[in-house]
Amino acid sequence: MSEDGFDRTFTELFPTPVLVARVPDHETLNKELKREIDAVRNATPNGRPEAWSCDVYTTFHSNFSLHHQAGFSRLTSRFMEGATEFAKGLSYPMHENDLSIEVCWLNIYGRNQWQERHNHSAHPIVAIYYAAAPPNCSSLILHSEHADTMLRPQYLGSDQVDHLSIKIDPEPGMMVVFNGHLRHSCTANNIDEERISVSANFNINLKPE
Ligand SMILES: [Fe+2]
Repeated sequence: MSEDGFDRTFTELFPTPVLVARVPDHETLNKELKREIDAVRNATPNGRPEAWSCDVYTTFHSNFSLHHQAGFSRLTSRFMEGATEFAKGLSYPMHENDLSIEVCWLNIYGRNQWQERHNHSAHPIVAIYYAAAPPNCSSLILHSEHADTMLRPQYLGSDQVDHLSIKIDPEPGMMVVFNGHLRHSCTANNIDEERISVSANFNINLKPE
């Protein structure tokens, strides 16, 4: 009870869970991946869906089974670890074997390329891994689920709780994991070097009792 007798409690409900991990020995992993990624890219036309406004090279519709390719097996294991950690953080009642990758694809951002706001609502968990993330490359923006509907005063400062969006600057070897409903986008890649990410959509298949 406060001194003035006015009992009050401030809580922040309905959090937006995000896991940011750094994969160990990512230099070696990314070196291996580069060869595989170059091979995929040389063999695969741009699979950018027509509905996308953005300009980016993606295998989203042209090769979404990278997790079944031998050259991506180490990354696939890391994806499973990252998604398992995320699920543990949420206290999901599941064994890690119940997690599976349904689709896994490549995204390459050249100069001025970007990604519009979207989500992966058909999947409970999404993971992004950065195989190449040069300094000052395109940022990942995570958007508040309330951004379009809440009434809020003018932005008051960096300590404000109700942010509309949060920026994550990718680093080589970084993995970001979040729920598939969370909307996200990528800013324009304003450098000449390419930013390369591999994304994975997970399913959760609960074991029968
Ligand atoms: Fe995405």
